[in-house]
Amino acid sequence: MQKTVVSGIRPTGNLHLGNYYGAMVNFIKMQEENRCFFFIADWHSLTTHPDPTMLHSNVKNVLAEYIACGLDPQKATIYIQSDIKEIAELYLLLNMHAYLGELEKTVSFKDKARKNPNNVNAGLLTYPVLMATDILVHNADFVPVGKDQEQHLEMTRNYAQRFNNKYGTDFFTLPQPFNFGQELIKIPGLDGSGKMGKSEGNAIYLIDEPKDIEKKVKRALTDSGVTEFNQPKPDYIENLFTIMKVVSSPDVVQHFDDLWNRAEIRYGDLKKQLAEDIIKTTAPIRSKINDIKANDEFLSRIIEEGADKARQSASKTIKEVRKLMGVR
Ligand code: TRP
Repeated sequence: MQKTVVSGIRPTGNLHLGNYYGAMVNFIKMQEENRCFFFIADWHSLTTHPDPTMLHSNVKNVLAEYIACGLDPQKATIYIQSDIKEIAELYLLLNMHAYLGELEKTVSFKDKARKNPNNVNAGLLTYPVLMATDILVHNADFVPVGKDQEQHLEMTRNYAQRFNNKYGTDFFTLPQPFNFGQELIKIPGLDGSGKMGKSEGNAIYLIDEPKDIEKKVKRALTDSGVTEFNQPKPDYIENLFTIMKVVSSPDVVQHFDDLWNRAEIRYGDLKKQLAEDIIKTTAPIRSKINDIKANDEFLSRIIEEGADKARQSASKTIKEVRKLMGVR
């Protein structure tokens, strides 16, 4: 049976290789068989007061990147959160069922409040309510989430359940996390510090020029070389192999793995090959991104059509919720 899937991304920067292999390739598969909503969460990003002129261009960037990666506006509903005013209304209504005590205990809230004690605003506190709204407004069955968003999804289920109990209905579906499981490839960063994108300078962006990719790969953390046979690889070397496994052909990976095991590997050669294969993977995407960004008319049409479809779904929900709560 067809399932409803909702996923949002905050427009805070460009997509990198980690986003591509972590989410995009799976979204592309999901859109074939499910009722998918992929949106850009620009209201969410306001909690940290981004530069207004940057915000809009970031929204456009992410949208262009989504489409260049293969998200298909014909198959999925791709839209900008702030285009759907029904979301603002449902957010207001759901806020009546979100208790201060639980909001204050949210891990992401405590984190941000600790890091930015001068900007503990109400929007930040109710961030999980807005996220719950994004999900419930389409009555999602599944939400693909990373570890850091699991608590938000759990809160979403609580609000849905609480609402259903309060009004004696089963209107809201309780959304489940969608786990890509085996299929989820975690792309490490180039600095040996963990996931790509976590810290500055460890990510390769889909829009990076070939010469920048070469530079970044060249700078990736290595050591003075391996001298013994069949040694386990240190993390930062394993990371380069992990990236190689997704961008290079199996025999290339095998070749360098053999060299490693024979303690004959030259990191310069490994990096040269890796950079070349990353460039081969990203070049067609980069050229699509640039084409799309140069075509304002196309982008505007996509945005409008996506908003129309999202609004249709959202307005059905809000009508029902108004009725259940007794608002006319
Ligand atoms: N909070 C999510 C993040 O930071 C983004 C997001 C907003 C989202 N609304 C959503 C994700 C709804 C999934 C579903 O990554």
